[in-house]
Amino acid sequence: MEIIVRPTAEEVGVSAADIIEPFVRSGATLGLATGSTPTPTYMELIRRHREEGLSFAQCDAFLLDEYVGLERSDEQSYYATIRREFTSHVDIDDAKVQSLDGLSADTEAETRSYEQRIAAAGGVDVQILGVGANGHIAFNEPPSALDSRTREINLHPTTVADNARFFDNEDQVPRKALTQGVGTIMEAHTIVLIATGPNKADAVKALVEGPVSPGCPASVLQNHPRTTVILDDDAAAKLNR
Ligand code: F6R
Repeated sequence: MEIIVRPTAEEVGVSAADIIEPFVRSGATLGLATGSTPTPTYMELIRRHREEGLSFAQCDAFLLDEYVGLERSDEQSYYATIRREFTSHVDIDDAKVQSLDGLSADTEAETRSYEQRIAAAGGVDVQILGVGANGHIAFNEPPSALDSRTREINLHPTTVADNARFFDNEDQVPRKALTQGVGTIMEAHTIVLIATGPNKADAVKALVEGPVSPGCPASVLQNHPRTTVILDDDAAAKLNR
């Protein structure tokens, strides 16, 4: 994996956008993460759309994950979040921004269908990833099988606590989610993992320097042939460099 370290989260966003832009120009299938980390990347892509004419009209997109039990209209659903923070600000066709249905009565069928829809789109060309403080990617909590597929999972208590900042209180954070599997994510052609801030430094050290293990699902990216990890100084602070 290639490692890029930039001084600030904003500059991390610019470096990530530099990798993603050629894919957008070729009408790629984008893999989109939610959460705080990609916000500067999305802001930079929105800026390039507005000021430089970068068009997403030929792109389609798949989200990584979704909470179980939230209406799509709930502002904390990832369906609503990605529209509010990114896709409604560019010219991608809304119908081409796909996500898992966290209200599905048949999660087996929903997760199987999601895999089929990704395959039918020709797979994800460039996947944007964040990493949890506990080493998760998407919502593949440790331990997660490194060949796991899209499925329902129980959120780890540390993830519930981390994500409580988006809700009025921790009790409102859903305890379950649907997530692309580790094996599903590994099939993306190119991966851009972004991490910023001191609370990611341990996870970054484990994912870059630790053993490849289900205990740190992000570590599997060491085996991916086209992964770039983009860090700010704080997230990179514990790396042996
Ligand atoms: C979100 C996702 C998660 C986040 C991770 C980091 O779609 O898949 O894995 O990327 O929890 O979250 P933030 O960026 O909020 O620190």
